[in-house]
Amino acid sequence: MLRAACIVIWLASPSIGQGFYTLKGHGGPIMDIAVSPLGEISTASFDNAVGFWRTDGPVWLEGHRAAVNTVCFLNNKIIASGADDFTLWVWSLESASGRMVAAHTAKIADVAIAPDGQTLATASWDNKIGLTHIEGLDGSVESWLVDDMILLSGHRAGVNAIAFTQDGQTLYSASMDGTIRSWNLNDPKAPSTVIVKHGFGVNRLIVNDADGWLAYGAADGGTRMVDLNTGETIADFTLGRRPVLSMAYDPVTKMLAIGDGQGYIMFIDTTVRRITTDFKASLTGPIWALSYSPDGEYIHAGGIEDIVYSWPVAVMDEHIPMVGGIQSFLEDPISLPNGERQFKRKCSICHSLTKSSARKAGPSLYGLFGRKAGTVIDYTYSDTLSGSSIVWSEESVNALFDLGPDHFIPGTKMPMQRIVKKHDRDDLIDYLRTNTVQEEN
Ligand code: HEC
Repeated sequence: MLRAACIVIWLASPSIGQGFYTLKGHGGPIMDIAVSPLGEISTASFDNAVGFWRTDGPVWLEGHRAAVNTVCFLNNKIIASGADDFTLWVWSLESASGRMVAAHTAKIADVAIAPDGQTLATASWDNKIGLTHIEGLDGSVESWLVDDMILLSGHRAGVNAIAFTQDGQTLYSASMDGTIRSWNLNDPKAPSTVIVKHGFGVNRLIVNDADGWLAYGAADGGTRMVDLNTGETIADFTLGRRPVLSMAYDPVTKMLAIGDGQGYIMFIDTTVRRITTDFKASLTGPIWALSYSPDGEYIHAGGIEDIVYSWPVAVMDEHIPMVGGIQSFLEDPISLPNGERQFKRKCSICHSLTKSSARKAGPSLYGLFGRKAGTVIDYTYSDTLSGSSIVWSEESVNALFDLGPDHFIPGTKMPMQRIVKKHDRDDLIDYLRTNTVQEEN
């Protein structure tokens, strides 16, 4: 048996398409993956950045102030992204720059591009769907003409996913309120129609109007194909055991891929409506992101690791599953001393202890004690922190988590969190004292 046990990193161009490979460089979990018509890959990460994976290396698109949840290509040269900072950005790959074009009042969970190539739809946890039309995308970033966002209301809870029909006349949306709705875009003010009442929050949605169905995945594990016109269930693939977190469809092979909270990727042949493979793709974590290559031969997946895994679909089970190196924030917490456990569980997802900030969402804590706030050179701080007069000491780090960052340094972009128990703070500070001064090995 021929088993290609090699791990080819991104240098081996994804377009060459020989066996399994990974994309490494993000500093946090992978929340979404999009593929351009040419097959190039873009990623949304918890590290606040959008990655664009050129064959000669990744390009980082930076502007979001919080975890990026969703990316989509408008064409081969333009990407849109939505984030926990409530904003929608559009990026030009030619100039590797972008700009914020619209904002919701809660996080953006999904973004989709209409067939016209210039209307973006956003699904937000403010219960609304946004439509943002942009003209002049051929020109420079500064010259784009962005209309005010049109808001569609009707869902009673956060909207998780959206999809356009091929003619661009109808938009479908899936929500935590347990419904899937359809919106007539010729008359955006008209009320929406409830197509599916699932009961539990619906996380993911694929619309295939050419074949007359939509597929959805829900928080209770519900996984169904329904008739697009009647909403009737035409196939039920629910295994019940796990929330559906990601979905991808390949129009060439007509295969549907579904990623879930227990690390499985399940494949469904939509022509015969049957599960073909159920692959344990991640040993420890969820599958948050899934996307097919344009020829349907590769499936790209991401989750709690900062790595994208790309498997050739035909032979995936011959290759290693995710979790090449277990991330420190996943290590078994019981076995660690309390201070280290506090750090790994509460800080390490955003902070390194090495000299480099390592593309994480926060600055490196290397050499923390005695350091003036806001002074790590490879990190872009908020204005609040870069202009701060705080010097980090046991007392100020203690106050930071006793009061919480939002009270201790109002205006910081470090998320709200407190460590309530004094002994947990003491143990954490002890751990930081010894581990922020060590030489890298
Ligand atoms: C979800 C991400 C996140 C987590 C988790 C997090 N931080 Fe932060 N932290 C940040 C960000 C972002 C900043 C920069 C804030 C700014 O620029 O306003 C920051 C800044 C800091 C600073 C100031 C550093 C400097 O150079 O001035 C300290 C100290 C700090 N964090 C410690 C911690 C500790 C200790 C923990 C765990 C208890 C923790 N953080 C957890 C994101 C995080």
